[in-house]
Amino acid sequence: MKIVVIGGTGLIGSKLVNKLREHGHEAVAAAPNTGVNTLTGEGLAEVLKGASVVVDVSNSPSWDDAAVLNFFVTSTRNLLSYEAAAGVGHHVALSVVGTQLLAESGYFRAKIAQEKLIKESSIPYSIVHATQFFEFLKGLADISMVGDKVHLPPVLF
Ligand SMILES: NC(=O)c1ccc[n+]([C@@H]2O[C@H](COP(=O)([O-])OP(=O)(O)OC[C@H]3O[C@@H](n4cnc5c(N)ncnc54)[C@H](OP(=O)(O)O)[C@@H]3O)[C@@H](O)[C@H]2O)c1
Repeated sequence: MKIVVIGGTGLIGSKLVNKLREHGHEAVAAAPNTGVNTLTGEGLAEVLKGASVVVDVSNSPSWDDAAVLNFFVTSTRNLLSYEAAAGVGHHVALSVVGTQLLAESGYFRAKIAQEKLIKESSIPYSIVHATQFFEFLKGLADISMVGDKVHLPPVLF
């Protein structure tokens, strides 16, 4: 089955493309550096030709409140409309556990908006709520440094 992975060159996307290929699927990595841009629509019609499923594991290059909201709203709108035109049968998106409860965060407001657009579209969908990837650990430690010590909040990690 042809499966287009939007963000297929990223942290989770590159692992996903490999796993799908191991399972015998025709997995296509779609990202700006492979000529597909969901913000502008560049390359979308071509890459979606003959695709049964689209998995969206793209991420915004900027996490500023306005930029990240614009990224997820514009790219999801474009993607869903090109998918409908191409007859894609299923849209899968990766989101984060607890997204609906975290509206005070600009990043999560953008993920909530992404999920709303997907739920309102005509395309059958699955939204996967994953916990933070293990690879985030170093970044979390880096932003929690006070002097030469890592100060973590008193919550489960
Ligand atoms: N990180 C976590 O702990 C975590 C946990 C749960 C869910 N998630 C979700 O998982 C998704 C992927 O996260 P990640 O950490 O794997 O992201 P990442 O490593 O930053 O990869 C982002 C991907 O998106 C692509 N991209 C950026 N702008 C694009 C555009 N305009 N059009 C098409 N593709 C574009 C990038 O392509 P280029 O390299 O060419 O720019 C790259 O392939 C996100 O939606 C995030 O919310 C993440």
